Amino acid sequence: MIRDLITRNRSYRRFHQEFEIRDEILRELVDLARLSASAANLQPLKYALSCDSQRNALIFPCLAWAGYLKDWPGPCEGERPSAYIIILGDTKISQSFGCDHGIAAQSILLGARDRGLGGCMIGSVRRQQLRKALDVPSRYEILLVLALGKPKETVVIEAVGPNGDIKYWRDSEGIHHVPKRSLDEIIIG
Ligand SMILES: Cc1cc2nc3c(=O)[nH]c(=O)nc-3n(C[C@H](O)[C@H](O)[C@H](O)COP(=O)(O)O)c2cc1C
Repeated sequence: MIRDLITRNRSYRRFHQEFEIRDEILRELVDLARLSASAANLQPLKYALSCDSQRNALIFPCLAWAGYLKDWPGPCEGERPSAYIIILGDTKISQSFGCDHGIAAQSILLGARDRGLGGCMIGSVRRQQLRKALDVPSRYEILLVLALGKPKETVVIEAVGPNGDIKYWRDSEGIHHVPKRSLDEIIIG
């Protein structure tokens, strides 16, 4: 079960934009992050939610998509995320957030996939622009943006080839291929 869910939990970047994700669903996904591990149990993460088209339109231009796909500027209108969860670090609780936001992000994305949704972690964020657009108070560090929606693309895992290239690619049919290193390569002893 868990292997199947993790295998299906790929980074999706094209969505059925018209598919609505209610605020209640986003709250349920954040609740999975709330229950996840946190260094020293400080729980310094906070979350900003967006699931309406006006707020989504403020977030989208702050994000960079699929750096290896040089001729793809990101999802076109109609294929953009239906919702976002922005993971923030509350500097009044901690000055460093370790890997808490990675753990939270994975919990949220696995929960989304389990519901038939999908998403992508976006670390390449124009943070100043996003802070201004959403009026995020300075006490919160913008750590990661999770784009969410009903996936409109097929993503398949490949083995890394003999040349060692880990860059993902998209074929002529729009299928997105993601090379993963072998188990033997990553277990060093
Ligand atoms: C911390 C982190 C930051 C990421 N930032 C971006 C990003 O800014 N833009 C993007 O399109 N994908 C981003 N990704 C998604 C990765 O490109 C993706 O995980 C990788 O290509 C492997 O694909 P997979 O998630 O389907 O295994 C990020 C992933 C992680 C873990």
